Amino acid sequence: MNPVGTHPVESIRRCFPFIKNATTPIHYLDSAASSQKPECVIDRIRQCYEMEYANVHRGVYRLSEGATVAYEATRDLIANFLGGVSRQEVIFTSGTTSAINLISRTWGEENIGEGDEILVPVSEHHSNIVPWQLLAERKKARVRFIPLTDQLIPDLEAAKSMVSEKTKIIGFAHVSNVTGLIYPVAELVALAKQVGAITVVDGAQAVPHFQVDVKELGCDFYCFSGHKMLGPSGVGVLWGQERLLDAMPPFMGGGDMIASVTTEGSTWNALPYKFEAGTPAIAPVTALGSAVSFLQNLDLNAALEHDRQLSSKLTDAIKDCPGIRLFTNGQAPSVGVVTFYHEKIHPHDMAAIADSKSVCVRAGHHCAQPFMNWLGVPATTRISPYLYNNEDDVDKFIEAFQEANTLFNQE
Ligand code: ALA
Repeated sequence: MNPVGTHPVESIRRCFPFIKNATTPIHYLDSAASSQKPECVIDRIRQCYEMEYANVHRGVYRLSEGATVAYEATRDLIANFLGGVSRQEVIFTSGTTSAINLISRTWGEENIGEGDEILVPVSEHHSNIVPWQLLAERKKARVRFIPLTDQLIPDLEAAKSMVSEKTKIIGFAHVSNVTGLIYPVAELVALAKQVGAITVVDGAQAVPHFQVDVKELGCDFYCFSGHKMLGPSGVGVLWGQERLLDAMPPFMGGGDMIASVTTEGSTWNALPYKFEAGTPAIAPVTALGSAVSFLQNLDLNAALEHDRQLSSKLTDAIKDCPGIRLFTNGQAPSVGVVTFYHEKIHPHDMAAIADSKSVCVRAGHHCAQPFMNWLGVPATTRISPYLYNNEDDVDKFIEAFQEANTLFNQE
């Protein structure tokens, strides 16, 4: 990583209409659920629909050709963003969930058989559990859960004892959506390689925060969503090794994914189009390119350090409160998320009191019920700062936390 510079938070805040135009401030601390959008992304969507809109890959007129060029430019930006991969390896999906489902329905369908095993950490988001459970059910295979260490990262020693020639897939998050902890990707990839298993990395919580080089990681598939990295919702990316994507059957059938269709049968288009059936999310994909450029023009190391400093401030203020179980304090190796349970304050009450002060935090199981069971709690309160948050946002949450404590300690 480069040395950390200073994160220009106040000038960044001016790029976000949600913040700049607010008549009363909203303290948005739920960016792990979905991020706010900078003006350049919103403008790009508007420009696309107002001035440049036509279907892509189909029209022979200039408007359609222009829309295609803009759409495909995002693919090039993403290929560069992921460390310089081939554009054929970049597939647009509707998000991380659909990317993982695509793999389970194609690679999984062809390569998983009775008795095979799929390993995932017990902390995974449901989107990296349920598609594998469905696949395992279809194939009489088995999903096994890697336990966590006391630091709440996947236990590599336990994982080593679980892998065998039966292991065909190891799926895991690059960064946990619940804790923000950065997982040991290289070690898990190395373990998978020992037994010839493929690796599927859920990068949804990583790419908004730091530079990812998928070749350096050595994984087989890497998935993420646009909406958590300042881009529009409804668009995401599946990156995969070309040799694997080439060998996989298509996922959905329809227009654009074919080379030819006859009454006797069909043949498939080349990568990446084989996996992009139907009219894609034209404006969202185009605007995702603006989000990528916005991120690439920032010092992401400084932004990450800024998020961690906000988390430090927050954890210092709440960590000694009686009844609190703080699961992460937002420090390295983390992207700055703080997650806690308070024995007297249900997370939904905590979030409601925060909301009464215009502070948005997430409360619940975070689509990670097995993780909640592992922690022995029904839910947690999660605060996920991002590059547009300032100290005032955190101070307002601390006020809400103190108010909730006063209220619930009286009962
Ligand atoms: N995966 C999103 C979250 O963690 C929705 O909140």
